[in-house]
Amino acid sequence: MGAILVTGGAGFIGSNFVHYVLENTDHSVTVLDSLTYAGNRASLLGLPEDRFQFVHGDIRDAELVHELFERHDSVVHYAAESHNDNSLHDPRPFLETNIIGTYTLLEAARRHGTRFHHISTDEVYGDLELDDPARFTEDTPYNPSSPYSSTKAGSDLLVRAWVRSFGVKATISNCSNNYGPYQHVEKFIPRQITNVLTGNRPKLYGAGENVRDWIHANDHSSAVLAILDIGVIGETYLIGADGEKNNKDVVELILKLLGQEPDAYDHVIDRPGHDMRYAIDSSKLRTELGWVPKFSDFESGLAETIEWYRAHDSWWIPQKAEAEARYKQQGQ
Ligand code: NAD
Ligand code: DAU
Repeated sequence: MGAILVTGGAGFIGSNFVHYVLENTDHSVTVLDSLTYAGNRASLLGLPEDRFQFVHGDIRDAELVHELFERHDSVVHYAAESHNDNSLHDPRPFLETNIIGTYTLLEAARRHGTRFHHISTDEVYGDLELDDPARFTEDTPYNPSSPYSSTKAGSDLLVRAWVRSFGVKATISNCSNNYGPYQHVEKFIPRQITNVLTGNRPKLYGAGENVRDWIHANDHSSAVLAILDIGVIGETYLIGADGEKNNKDVVELILKLLGQEPDAYDHVIDRPGHDMRYAIDSSKLRTELGWVPKFSDFESGLAETIEWYRAHDSWWIPQKAEAEARYKQQGQ
């Protein structure tokens, strides 16, 4: 692998991956990130200067992308518009970055023969009923619900087409909901933690019965490295750590860990088209690539995450007022 180009490396999961790679391997890393509202240069401080470079730019900039692909052995593509709620209010940036951006990178991978790993989401499969014993597998048909998930589904299909039609050396992974440090406060877990830390009540959409399958960002990183290392070109791998929890239970656990009453939260307007349940069967990744998650205890992973937010308020305070103002406009 040698030199890895990481798109979207100033975002939540990308920055966790960059830290993970620099701490656990000898690879060098270049981040390409346009620093949207979700990108934060402060998530990439203190990294070794001889092995890390930051490039401020857009994945839709074909010239810049060409120049960067020329001098990297592999690319891990995290850059995206990632928030469902935002996609319901203004879908266009999702089409621009998730579709056109991915297309621009694929064209560069085709031109340079670069090993390409595409980061995607379990949301491309739509949702499951609460009482359905099924979980998503690599064979589940695509059925996305939101503008966000439909653009991610579109980007996955572009990758598959570029593999088949042009021989691009690509793999895809579809991961479940991540938690951990450096996650923007617009997202569920950091929003509720920082609400409590600022003296406000957590906000639960609807009844809070929706289930998400939580995985720590470090486990996502180790899975991506395994795929980059020994994954089979053209294959898709689902990443998940058996972490199904409903939103109400997660809010109550956050309140408990922060020493609050279990019912000290508000129910707010539900998300339109809100997916009910996601659940990942990651057998293929575990049996074929030998991957095993390390964060098996959600409560202790969440407690660590809460401590991170408590200790890093200078990282999240600048985002908080704007994120809450957006939610307030939507009655959430
Ligand atoms: P994020 O919103 O925290 O970060 C996205 C990053 O991409 C930001 O740093 C942003 O500045 C950058 N970016 C956006 N548009 C860009 C552009 N046009 N050019 C260059 N950079 C651009 O997102 P995240 O939650 O870290 O998600 C990263 C990836 O992982 C996404 O592809 C997402 O679909 C996928 N994913 C996320 C989760 C999750 O739980 N958050 C789960 C599975 C998959
Ligand atoms: O499943 C993977 C996906 O997980 C990723 O592809 C997305 O990029 C990522 O944002 C995440 O999508 P979700 O929509 O599941 O995550 P979010 O953090 O927005 O919400 C998690 C759940 O919590 C969801 O059921 C909505 C609910 N929620 C969210 C917020 C922000 C609340 O109840 N209250 C809130 O304030």
